[in-house]
Amino acid sequence: MEWRGQRVLVTGGAGFLGANLCIALAERGAKVTAVDAFLFGGGAHVANLDGADVELVRADIREVDMRPLCEGRNVIFNLAAQTSHMGGQSDPLADIDVNAVAQVKLIAAAREAAAEAVVVHASTRQFYGRPLYLPVDEKHPVAPPDANGVSKFAGEQYWMLENRVRGRPVASLRLTNCYGPRLRIRDARQTFLANWMREVLRGNAFEVWGGEQLRDLTFVDDVTEAFLLAAAEPRCHGRIFNVGGAPPVALAALAKMLVEVAGNGARYVVKNFPEDRAKIDIGSYYADDSAFRDATGWTPVTDVRTGLEKTLAWLRPRLEVYC
Ligand SMILES: NC(=O)c1ccc[n+]([C@@H]2O[C@H](COP(=O)([O-])OP(=O)(O)OC[C@H]3O[C@@H](n4cnc5c(N)ncnc54)[C@H](O)[C@@H]3O)[C@@H](O)[C@H]2O)c1
Repeated sequence: MEWRGQRVLVTGGAGFLGANLCIALAERGAKVTAVDAFLFGGGAHVANLDGADVELVRADIREVDMRPLCEGRNVIFNLAAQTSHMGGQSDPLADIDVNAVAQVKLIAAAREAAAEAVVVHASTRQFYGRPLYLPVDEKHPVAPPDANGVSKFAGEQYWMLENRVRGRPVASLRLTNCYGPRLRIRDARQTFLANWMREVLRGNAFEVWGGEQLRDLTFVDDVTEAFLLAAAEPRCHGRIFNVGGAPPVALAALAKMLVEVAGNGARYVVKNFPEDRAKIDIGSYYADDSAFRDATGWTPVTDVRTGLEKTLAWLRPRLEVYC
């Protein structure tokens, strides 16, 4: 797709994945509007869109009339979400408000104001729950391990319903653990890697819970490319895809690699899962994303070591800003 001149809306556009996507779109010449409520505990950061040719609208998709923001858009990338698993457990109603109710409102607004727009929805592997088999393909049963998984599944399904009933071109990408520049590192609300990276950059010890679990991490530039391809490729529309990443790595091996990459003598300690976390832990996960690769030709190009190097290099001079 020629992105130059495309009118694009990115919900959650000041967050981790959203900001990286906005910047990539703007660099390709798209006219980009990011809408973000800078929700407490989310990944939004004022510095995320620094210097980018992106219009930022501070608004809450639960409350604002989204029709003017949707008006005339060719593509909507829908990333706004309550993403914290523990947050969803402690306040499931707030979680549903963003991840499901606001999605239905956005669907109605887009129906009126941007009837033809392609929508790419950011979904998650989370609601597969503890995998019954590996790698996990899209036919794997859905069994959310927490409230956040339930609300994210509902949001995705409302968007797919819009495709089936109204014919809107919608693609949903079930992402795995993403990391890279602009990740929220203040705490582990987004990912365990946040705590690891913050502490390793400070030269401190960090905790690895368990250690044997496998994960397929996706570097953010590969996620961005997946979003762009899903919008551009008509074979993606009306479909749900897993998007995996680099070959799976055990968390203990990942921790060792992170310490090596940091090269500052930081270390880690392996511990048992805390009781409240163990209840919603999903064990090992890695995706079978061959359907997405077949449809788009996408393949992750950043291996984990390179991704960690790039992320630490980006974060190092910004540590205090992002903590
Ligand atoms: N990062 C990952 O590893 C990962 C994995 C699977 C799925 N996802 C999905 O990708 C999307 C982006 O995730 P992220 O990691 O960038 O998280 P993030 O928290 O950095 O981004 C989400 C953004 O949405 C905004 N937002 C939340 N509620 C809003 C509302 N009511 N109105 C307007 N803005 C609102 C937040 O302020 C935040 O900036 C989410 O939908 C998430 O579920 C991410």
